[in-house]
Amino acid sequence: MFARTLQLQSFGPTETSLHLKTVELPEPGKGQILLRMEASPIHPADLLLIKGKYGLLPELPAVVGNEGVGRIVRCGEGVHSLQAGDLVLPGTSGMWTEARLAEADDCILLPRELDIFQAAQITVAPLTAYWMLTSILSLPTGSWVVQNAANSAVGRCVIQIARCLRLKTLNVVRRADLREELLELGADTVIIEEDLEATIKNFYESALPRLALNAVGGASGLALANTLAPGGIHLTYGAISRQPLTIPETLLIYKNIVFKGFWRTSHWNSFTVDERQAVIHQLVQWVENGSLHLPVEKTYPIQDFQLAISHAQQEKRSGKILLKFPHDITDIPRPTNTFF
Ligand SMILES: NC(=O)c1ccc[n+]([C@@H]2O[C@H](COP(=O)([O-])OP(=O)(O)OC[C@H]3O[C@@H](n4cnc5c(N)ncnc54)[C@H](OP(=O)(O)O)[C@@H]3O)[C@@H](O)[C@H]2O)c1
Repeated sequence: MFARTLQLQSFGPTETSLHLKTVELPEPGKGQILLRMEASPIHPADLLLIKGKYGLLPELPAVVGNEGVGRIVRCGEGVHSLQAGDLVLPGTSGMWTEARLAEADDCILLPRELDIFQAAQITVAPLTAYWMLTSILSLPTGSWVVQNAANSAVGRCVIQIARCLRLKTLNVVRRADLREELLELGADTVIIEEDLEATIKNFYESALPRLALNAVGGASGLALANTLAPGGIHLTYGAISRQPLTIPETLLIYKNIVFKGFWRTSHWNSFTVDERQAVIHQLVQWVENGSLHLPVEKTYPIQDFQLAISHAQQEKRSGKILLKFPHDITDIPRPTNTFF
């Protein structure tokens, strides 16, 4: 089978580093499956990886794409738990391709009828939000969590999953016009950063947030830390503003605030496939019962990847940008030269 794939040949600007290549895929070997990919989002982590600035870099050439969903075309010898037509999450890399091989043991099985755009986004933003809310500290029902970049994909998942877990969210955004939309999504309070200090003064001491989720860094990250109850945890998982977080000693000495980082990848790697399957099963249930929705702003075909990447870098989006792969890839012309 031939497939078009987005291959990273050097780290740098997408215009010169990322190339659309047609490759021939071998038949699945023992324990492998052949997948036709359905959809794959474009995440900030993908863009960092292309530039060579991500925490984990592949050997080049490599197929880009952190997250995606595919449907099984054929199973290799010895694969009994999966079958043709199954919808699966094939891992955490190499997703920007129309078809690929995967190890059956690494795949997470999804309900066949699950919406492919929800399925394609389930392992990054929702898992990050879920693990940040549940694995760092045990928050009693009704506890407040404060976060910035509340309109981001992760921020929206924090709002929705916190609601499922009966936690309350204090959400900081940089655009006041998002307020109604995020309240409707389940946010308890939505404010712009300038109002954070005044808002927190209205909180009873006992209700102050014990967990802050910082995706922005710089002054915004510090503002979150100032809202925390003594002993609270400040978790940095992104650095969107590219400004360093400066921590005043008073927060360490008098309030004993704990500053930590979070990286979904290291969490993912520390779990077995069965443990990952169990968490994803919970997230899928929330998607299916309407408690969790992962918005899409636009989808692009693979050949328009430069347009898609530039759209993904625009501000004020209403959802993710995804690559959507065609259903019939048998028509792809045989390449005139060979790669790999
Ligand atoms: N550590 C981990 O495991 C992990 C996992 C997933 C994501 N992340 C990180 O989390 C962050 C969010 O990712 P995502 O995929 O959820 O993002 P996304 O959906 O692409 O959204 C980006 C958000 O950032 C906001 N924003 C952009 N520039 C900003 C600035 N200078 N100050 C404040 N807000 C700004 C945007 O606000 P507007 O809506 O107003 O434009 C938007 O809400 C990224 O840094 C990503 O790398 C980390």
